[in-house]
Formats: sequence, C-alpha cells, structure tokens
Amino acid sequence: MWYFFSPNIIYGEDALDFLENISGKKCFIVSDKNLEELGYIKILTDKLDKFGRQYEIFNDVKPDPREEDILAAREKCISYAPDIIIALGGGSVIDTAKSVWALYEYPQFVVDDLHPFNPDLYNLGSKAKMVAIPTTSGTGAETTWAVVISRFEDNVWKKLEQAHRGFTPNYAIVDPIFPSGMPSKLTAGTGFDALAHSLEGLTAVWRNEFSNALSLKAIELVFKYLPIAYKDGNNMEARDYVHQAATIAGLAFGNSQAHLGHAMGHSWGAIFHTHHGVAVGIFLVYITQFCLNNTDESDQTAAILGKLSKQLGWSKWEDDDKKAAYIAIDKIKELQKQVNLPSRLKDLEISREDFDKNLDMLVSLCFQSSCSVMSPRGSNASEFKKLFTYAYEGKDIDF
Ligand SMILES: [Fe+2]
Repeated sequence: MWYFFSPNIIYGEDALDFLENISGKKCFIVSDKNLEELGYIKILTDKLDKFGRQYEIFNDVKPDPREEDILAAREKCISYAPDIIIALGGGSVIDTAKSVWALYEYPQFVVDDLHPFNPDLYNLGSKAKMVAIPTTSGTGAETTWAVVISRFEDNVWKKLEQAHRGFTPNYAIVDPIFPSGMPSKLTAGTGFDALAHSLEGLTAVWRNEFSNALSLKAIELVFKYLPIAYKDGNNMEARDYVHQAATIAGLAFGNSQAHLGHAMGHSWGAIFHTHHGVAVGIFLVYITQFCLNNTDESDQTAAILGKLSKQLGWSKWEDDDKKAAYIAIDKIKELQKQVNLPSRLKDLEISREDFDKNLDMLVSLCFQSSCSVMSPRGSNASEFKKLFTYAYEGKDIDF
C-alpha cells in the first residue's frame, strides 16, 4: 500500500473566485501583518463580502511560527467557531492554519498530539473546511501534510516537524495575483525552495511514480520560468507558471519527502535565520553531489538524475548517467547565478568563528529532522560536518 494525498486545486488568474463555491458562512482567516499592509487581506475580504460571507481575521503569524502563537490563534478560532479556515500567506501562515485547524477540530489535543500516528487526524473537516491560498511561489505548503513549529527547549529554538496526512487542506487556491507582488529577491529564494522540493523529492527513498512525474514537471517549469519572473515580476505568464510549479513541487515532495538539504536547511535556519529557500538552495548542490558519490552499487541516484538531464535536453540519451547527472548539477549552479542567489554559506555574512562555534549544534539538529532518514545516501555526524563545511567554503563534494 502506498499513498498520494492532494487537495482540490484551483489555479490560474481569477482562481480566487472559486471561494463562492465553498459552503459555509463564517471564515477564520489566518494571515500576517505584512500581507495586510500589502492589501492582500483586503483582496480576499472583498471577495468574501461579495459572496456574503462573515469573517474574523488572525493576522499575527510571524516567520517560523512559534508554539505559543499557534495556541493564541487556536483560542481565537475556537471562540469564533468558523465553518471555513482560510490560510492566506506563505509557509509560516499555512503551517499555522493547519495546526489551528487540527487543534480546533480536536480541542483536547496539544501540539505534541499532531503526529503521523494519531488516527483521529485523518478526520479533520467535521467542523471546518480548510482552504490554503499561497502568496509566495515556493513552500508548497498548500498541498503538503507537514507543519514546522518552533519551540524553545534546552536553551535553543527547535523546529518541530509535526506531520499528518490529514493536514492536507481541502482546497488550494493558487492565484498568481498574490505572488505577482513579490520582490525579485523573494521570487528567487522561494523559487529555489520549489526546486529543492522537486529535486530532493525525485531522489528521496519514498519516491514513487506519482511524485516522479510531478517532480519532473516542476523542475522543467522552474528552469524555464523562474529567470523570467525574476527579471520581470510583471510577466504574469511566468508568475503563473512559477506559482503552479511550486504547487506541483509541493505535491511531489509532499508525497515523496525532502531529504538532506531540508534537514540541513531547517537546522541552519533554526540558528542563523537565513531565508529557508536561500538556505536549501545553497545546500541543494552539495547534497546532490554527496548522493551522487554513493558507493553503494544498488543506488539509483545517478540513473534518476541522469535521466532527468536527458529528459530536459541537457544531455544526450547515449551519455553516461553519472556524466549527465553532473550536467544537471551545473545547471542548478547556473540558475542560482542567473537569479543572483548565493552559492556558499560564507556569502551569507556569517563569520567563520560563528560558523565553527555552532557546527556541532547544526549537526545535532540535523539528526532531529525526519528528512535525514529520507535520503538515498545516509549521512553520519562527520559527513554532516563536512557537508556544512564544504557548503560554507563553496567546495565541490569529494567524499
Ligand atoms: Fe522547503
């Protein structure tokens, strides 16, 4: 038995109008202050007014949502008793809304109950439908079943990766009107998050025929349209395709899993607070090289990435798989340059002293990430240390 979980997806220009068809009178909107200032919440509430719906707004989500903020949102949600929970925002907002949804449906649960082995969570939706509306093109959170929650414990901020397939929203409304306002730097960072999802999802140990097809399409769309959307944010065709790519990548890795790059990215983010997409974008090249250097002959990474390189026309069909796979890595490096993203941790203005001081903690946090066990090539502590160090210095992986 295997699984493929997905929301109903409405995409393209004017997708927001689909809200009219979702039954329920009272909507609980989860969002953040920045989106309110940008006028995005108003775009949504104008539609709700037009469709005769009532709403209450929780606009207090902060980046890397903290447990106490989620609990505050839950209290507000329980007292409002909505029929629909609408998440309008990026990954932090959507993760918060998914957690609030579960804790609203089961008020007796605490955050630690939001784990994959809790059978009750398959039945979310008896009180409210969940609608996710992404405003960035990257996290894929509108399709996935994992939520990342920050908790301060043992003197450090930890990222809890709570997950359950029941968290998959009922609807994802993927309307390019929202990401069209993203500045170019955010367009690049979030676009690389989508690329990391699709590439890690393509090689992860839980990859499957459904996720493979979606990863390939997402990678193709990101390579074709991200540079265009980066250069000209008003190009709505490119915006629409990058937005679709992020959702398609979400479906891919949500049903396959991300691996080492996300373990390292979450660990790095917990300590240095670099934008998630920028961090996983940096690690992507190094962890892909590391996986390609696997000496286990049964490993499929070279065959998978070699085929990708050929399918996208980067290599000839008769080329050796490993050679073709390395061309795919060169293409990632080129794309990173095209959208002006850093390729080394050193470029993030983290001093060597700060880096060295935190290296043991970075490695230890990687082992707390479920992504670590999803890699086609496992990494031990000394290999994680080397991976971080090579990524800091910008050295190709030779082990
Ligand atoms: Fe990600």
